[in-house]
Amino acid sequence: MQERHIYMDHGASTPVRPEVVEAMLPYWTDHYGNPSSAHFFGREASQGLERSRRQIADLLKAQPTEIVFTGCGSESDNMALRGVMWSARKNGRGNHLIVSAIEHNAVLDTAKQLRDHFDFDLTILPVDNMGKIDLDELEKAIRPDTILISIMAANNEIGTFQPFDAIGELAHEHNVLFHTDAVQAAAFVDWDLKTQPIDLMSIAPHKFYGPKGVGILYVHKNIELVASLTGGGQEDGRRAGTVNVPFAVGAAESLRLALEERTANIAHYESLRDRLIDGVLSALPEDAILTGHPTDRLPHNASFAIRDVSGNDLLIHLDVAGVCASSGSACKTGNPKPSAILEALGLSQEWSRGGLRLTVGRQNTMNDIEYVLKKLPGIVQTVRSFSLSFA
Ligand SMILES: Cc1ncc(COP(=O)(O)O)c(C=O)c1O
Repeated sequence: MQERHIYMDHGASTPVRPEVVEAMLPYWTDHYGNPSSAHFFGREASQGLERSRRQIADLLKAQPTEIVFTGCGSESDNMALRGVMWSARKNGRGNHLIVSAIEHNAVLDTAKQLRDHFDFDLTILPVDNMGKIDLDELEKAIRPDTILISIMAANNEIGTFQPFDAIGELAHEHNVLFHTDAVQAAAFVDWDLKTQPIDLMSIAPHKFYGPKGVGILYVHKNIELVASLTGGGQEDGRRAGTVNVPFAVGAAESLRLALEERTANIAHYESLRDRLIDGVLSALPEDAILTGHPTDRLPHNASFAIRDVSGNDLLIHLDVAGVCASSGSACKTGNPKPSAILEALGLSQEWSRGGLRLTVGRQNTMNDIEYVLKKLPGIVQTVRSFSLSFA
């Protein structure tokens, strides 16, 4: 069995930093009260919770009341879309929602559910071959009854940034709300939500060395959300359920570290990413293409389409060689499904089955990159000859 395991799947999740664990620990063992309880232990938990909320708000230049703790990035997305659209329905305001074709399923499936089961109208905007939406197309899609535009800040699979400030400005010119899924982008942007035209924003701390099982939803103070989770009225009636205080503390600490170290992290990731991209494209000139935008992309994301292979087979062989990566293509036995994102870029099946995403992190070094570059070309040949002989 392979001794060396190189983790290059930081777009999927990251290890929790020791500083973050340290900050969380007392909220399990000492300050364990329910933050809604009025007594001493409740007040201690509540102080930790509210301090974390304030810290997140300060980092994003928002107000503490605009920060809602959720259970994950998906929940933040679900809550934003349902909360805004249900509120519009309740107030008889409008019926139309716009998303892009390459949203994460947490947005796309929620939008389709709103269309299919709640009678909302949905426009799914196409993207160009680098994964960008067209602002003119977006403007044309806006209707008098449009309530919300939900377009991600950066794509999880191909790394492309969307022009989120320009989208928000356009939305506001037309009196439409703007939600952005910043689950991948949160650690890489100098947010100023006081001035940025963003009404709702989803964040997931496990993408930047915080815990899984907690999400953040920024909701501008003027926006009413109809709660998807009802009960005890926590989070100002926007999300019921006893808040997971240790995780909220971990969310705040991980966001603080990520944004304080943002510039250094970006420089480190970009140097690794760029060597990876150059190395893969020069080692496999006929067989690999870069997916996503060549420059306007997440600093830690190198994503490719590899010709005539199944992304899943590639991952298995990479794993055996000690490299942990991911692919957009979900594989059913005997029926490798192409990546919906790669298809939305206009890639044919020859390429869209072979998605490969390598996302670097703090611990990765140039040696790791060189190791991947040494292994990958041989693995691609093996996987291809294997799939062709069974075709
Ligand atoms: C862009 C994007 N949105 C939403 C999610 C969902 O986040 P979570 O897994 O925390 O629910 C992910 C997770 O990969 C993501 O990359």
